[in-house]
Amino acid sequence: MKIMHVVGARPNFIKLSPVYAALSARLGVEQTVIHTGQHYDDLLSDLIFRQLDMPRPDHNLGVGSGSHAAQTAAALTRLESAMHDGRPDLVLVYGDVNSTLAAALAAAKLGIPVGHVEAGLRSRDRSMPEELNRLLVDRLADLLFTPSADADENLLAEGVAPQAIHLVGNVMIDSLVRLLPTAEAVWPGIERTLELAGRPFALVTLHRPANVDHPAVLRPLMAALCDMARDLTLIFPAHPRTRARLETLGPLPMPGPRIIAPLGYLEILALQKHAAYVITDSGGIQEETTFLGVPCLTVRPNTERPVTITLGTNQLVGQDPDALRMAVADILGGRGKDGGVPPLWDGRTGERIADILTAGMVPVERGHRAVARDEERHVRH
Ligand code: UD1
Repeated sequence: MKIMHVVGARPNFIKLSPVYAALSARLGVEQTVIHTGQHYDDLLSDLIFRQLDMPRPDHNLGVGSGSHAAQTAAALTRLESAMHDGRPDLVLVYGDVNSTLAAALAAAKLGIPVGHVEAGLRSRDRSMPEELNRLLVDRLADLLFTPSADADENLLAEGVAPQAIHLVGNVMIDSLVRLLPTAEAVWPGIERTLELAGRPFALVTLHRPANVDHPAVLRPLMAALCDMARDLTLIFPAHPRTRARLETLGPLPMPGPRIIAPLGYLEILALQKHAAYVITDSGGIQEETTFLGVPCLTVRPNTERPVTITLGTNQLVGQDPDALRMAVADILGGRGKDGGVPPLWDGRTGERIADILTAGMVPVERGHRAVARDEERHVRH
């Protein structure tokens, strides 16, 4: 069986790694990794591959940045050629970035079965580009690998055939479980570099356009972070988009959060593990903090990962700086939220996906879901 993995942005690489490793150990599986090039900076791309011990991608399509339409269209065109040349039996796509949508669409139109890793998540907020990507990718996918039971419920409610849905757990947590010991080993060096010297600190990451693209939103959020930085050091690795927007805001009150370059995967894991709390708008960090039991304040009005709230340590604070200040005061006052680890977030999700894909090595039937739905309709009438 020839499997083509398509990835494009930082979180995709972390999700790919466990699936790739599990399939590498199976006989009769040939794997190709296509990087669309959506993320191209060393700190967002090559460094993460190296830290994950992943071989370099077989092809990098060099799509780069652009508007959503331009980026998705460039990826779609180049992926169509790559799939045409590679003739895979199955294309695996990850998460919800523009490259994920382009890959699912290119494959589906070529009649190649598509598997979606991290299927079924829904924020029900269509102003987020990722929500549109998730909805469309799940309509196109033939195999839907879900991280939690809420994702199964979403897919079933949308009419996806039950036999196409596989609750396998959270593949991001596989990478965390594997690399947390390495992150712990490098922690003393990171602590020294950041001059933390054993003192408590908090971690901040913000990169969503809704938070960073509008000065009317970003300025009050930064003012709140500057207040918090008076009580506790705030480490803020800034995504290139965020750094560019921050530069337009002008100087911040001192001491303020410590704004640094994007960090590698090991560094961000270690910082999360040792932080007093985390403020973020990232999807993956909501999950990682839940697994690590670290309080997480999510600067969004909603989340596609509700299990991190119902079971985990995550809490939504919207974009309201006062809600953020109050939530931080609660955590520092010992009134933070406790949490547990969701079922199947156990480090074995990649193996479960490999089991399903290699069971009897039966090729996935393209159109399996549509056929199943037609049959159901037939039975109902
Ligand atoms: C993308 C994903 C987002 C994910 C994030 C992880 C989409 C719609 N968004 O957002 O879901 O959470 O990746 O980081 O796919 N840039 C660089 N260097 C790079 C890549 C980007 O400087 O290597 C800058 C460019 O100015 C670019 C901007 O960041 O225009 C945004 O990059 P883009 O890939 O469009 O989206 P992200 O914000 O990274």
